[in-house]
Amino acid sequence: MERLVTGSGPASDGDVETPVRACSVRSLSDRFAAAHRLTPEAVLTRYRRWLLAGEAVVARIEDRPVGLVNLVDDPLRPRATDLALLVADDVQRRGVATGLLHHALGAPARAGWAVRATVRDDNRAAIGLLRTQRLGPVRLASFEAGELTYEIAIPA
Ligand SMILES: CC(C)(COP(=O)(O)OP(=O)(O)OC[C@H]1O[C@@H](n2cnc3c(N)ncnc32)[C@H](O)[C@@H]1OP(=O)(O)O)[C@@H](O)C(=O)NCCC(=O)NCCS
Repeated sequence: MERLVTGSGPASDGDVETPVRACSVRSLSDRFAAAHRLTPEAVLTRYRRWLLAGEAVVARIEDRPVGLVNLVDDPLRPRATDLALLVADDVQRRGVATGLLHHALGAPARAGWAVRATVRDDNRAAIGLLRTQRLGPVRLASFEAGELTYEIAIPA
């Protein structure tokens, strides 16, 4: 496969708009496991800060921001963090999320961490990604009201 992602690094406010505007309502609703339809405009006005929350990393192709990952550490559980991902529709299924996961969670600082992600039960892409990622073994931690929470154990 061609090397699609040309760079990853800390995300700033200017990195949010381009990937959000390149996403369908479906992708945006999946990102926030929202029961209602989220348009790019709604996300940019009401949910923007969540795309910069915690450790926020952007993936770029040339100068274009195409994907965002957020890791928000759990204040109640040591070495536990919540994961959320968004990849622009036109570059999905080309390894962008895999690269972001590796960049954000592959470093020694995250060894021994538990990584949780909550997705709707009809989100085949995210479920497929979580089940096949290679950071560590994954288990289904909970299934409630149409939402699945997966937990990845990164080896110490
Ligand atoms: C889920 C999402 C982040 C995946 O990003 P991506 O860059 O397309 O993922 P990758 O290309 O790295 O895919 C890695 C693996 O995940 C699985 N996968 C990804 N998209 C899939 C799809 N549409 N259907 C089934 N499996 C899929 C596959 O196993 C894939 O490996 P393969 O292509 O070699 O078969 C992306 O679809 C997205 O942004 N969706 C909307 C937001 C969302 O659902 N976020 C999840 C909240 S945690």
